[in-house]
This record gives sequence, C-alpha cells and structure tokens, in this order.
Amino acid sequence: MNKLPNESAIGVLDSGVGGLSTLAVLKKVLPHENFIFYADHKNAPYGDKTKEQVEKFVYDIVKFFISKNVKAIIIACNTAVSATIKKLRKEFNIPILGLEPAIKVAYDNCKERDIVIMATKLTIDGDKLKNLLKKLNIENRVKKLSASGLVELIEAENYSEVKIIEYLKELFRKVEIKKYSYLVLGCTHYIFIKNELKKVLGTKIKLIDGNLGIANHLKRTLTKLNILNLSKEVGKVELISSGTAKDMKKLNIFYEKACSLV
Ligand code: DGL
Repeated sequence: MNKLPNESAIGVLDSGVGGLSTLAVLKKVLPHENFIFYADHKNAPYGDKTKEQVEKFVYDIVKFFISKNVKAIIIACNTAVSATIKKLRKEFNIPILGLEPAIKVAYDNCKERDIVIMATKLTIDGDKLKNLLKKLNIENRVKKLSASGLVELIEAENYSEVKIIEYLKELFRKVEIKKYSYLVLGCTHYIFIKNELKKVLGTKIKLIDGNLGIANHLKRTLTKLNILNLSKEVGKVELISSGTAKDMKKLNIFYEKACSLV
C-alpha cells in the first residue's frame, strides 16, 4: 500500500443523502480529517438496481476518489457494500471500509429476543446478509423487511412525514413489533426517519445503525497505518453530487440535519 500524505482527504460515497449521516459521525470522531463526500444522485437509488449496475457505479466513484488522491474510502451505503466490497478490495490498493447492517451488535446485546432488519431490496436479497446470518446461526431469529421505494420518499423534493408514516405503517403491518428487541437500520437513509419510525413503532424497540462502528474502525485503521491527519485545524468537507443543482442543495440541507443529529 503506497502511503499518501496524512493531509489527504478521505472519500465517502453513497447513492444520495443517506451517507451524510455517516459523514457527520466520521467528522465527529475524526474532526481534523478532510472529507470528500460523493452522492451518486444520477444513478440513485441503488437498492432496486442489479448487483452488476451498482458495481459499475461504485467502481467509477472509487476511480474518481483515487484521482483525488484520497488516503481511504468509506462506502457509506449498505447496498453498495453488499454488491461490491469484495471486488473493490481485490482491485484497489487503498483501505476501503464499508458499512454493514449492525446485526451482530444487536444480537450480542440481546440474545434472547429476535431482531428486525429493514434495508433495500438488494441488501436484503444479497448473499452478504445471508452469509452473515448463517455464520451467526440466526437465520430464524431475524425478520427481514425489504423497503423498496422508501429511499425515494426520503429524497423527495417535498419531504412528507405523512407519506413516510403511511409507508412505514404498511411495511410493518404484519410485524408483531413487541416480539423484537432491535430494529437494525440497514440503509444509511433510514437514519433520517428515526422520528417517523418511533411514531409508528413506539419507543420500546431500539434502533441501531453502523455509523459509530465504522467511524471507530476508520480511526483504528488510520492510526495503525500512521496516516491520521495531525493538523490542529478543523478539517474541510467537500460535498459533490452527480445529479442536479437541486440535488446539491438537498445535500447541504441534509448535511446540516445530519450534523444536528450527532
Ligand atoms: N443509502 C443506501 C444504503 O445504505 C442505499 C440507498 C439506495 O440507493 O437504495 O443502502
């Protein structure tokens, strides 16, 4: 692995605004680092695309980050990780960390009760999740909900809490929620709808995501490789969208929201 300057930025990517929730936590844990955030609005949402399509989108963004000399890459998108991470790590000689549904943490914290996970179709149907459940031997303990169409509601120009609540009521209609200890948020976009989830599901079920886990993992990785940014200044954040000017505006709004949540 070629060592890049400690001041080099860290690339963070998602299909859209969801990964900003990850970025806000990364920034909190590593305030002196510089970040470039890339939202692939042009190709979003990823969750209903094929594995091959998502592989190609993410490959192009990773190439872009490498052209910017980033020292590490965070895939702040469970869907992209499920579809691509193995291949990317084989191909690129740079630390690539990816978000994964926090199933293990949820299970370790409460072994006697079952878990629900909600995620995009590609994540729910993917081998990565299946293999994880198999490895932990909890295939029958995890209720999987594929939430197609929810990312579009979160990204909608006129964000509507009412529509999101309606959607969630339908998604959880047949789920007996009191049977479960944890709801794993298996898509970074869902962090922005925690209030709506609490309104629909009540406050007993605990919501869990992988953002803090990946931020701590990144800190350990940079420390181990001796590439932490040692500057005393607060790092810079550059936001990029492959979409329209409206998407760019949305990124700024959601980034502020994400920072206010951590
Ligand atoms: N935010 C992404 C995730 O964590 C995916 C959203 C999408 O594009 O479907 O899975």
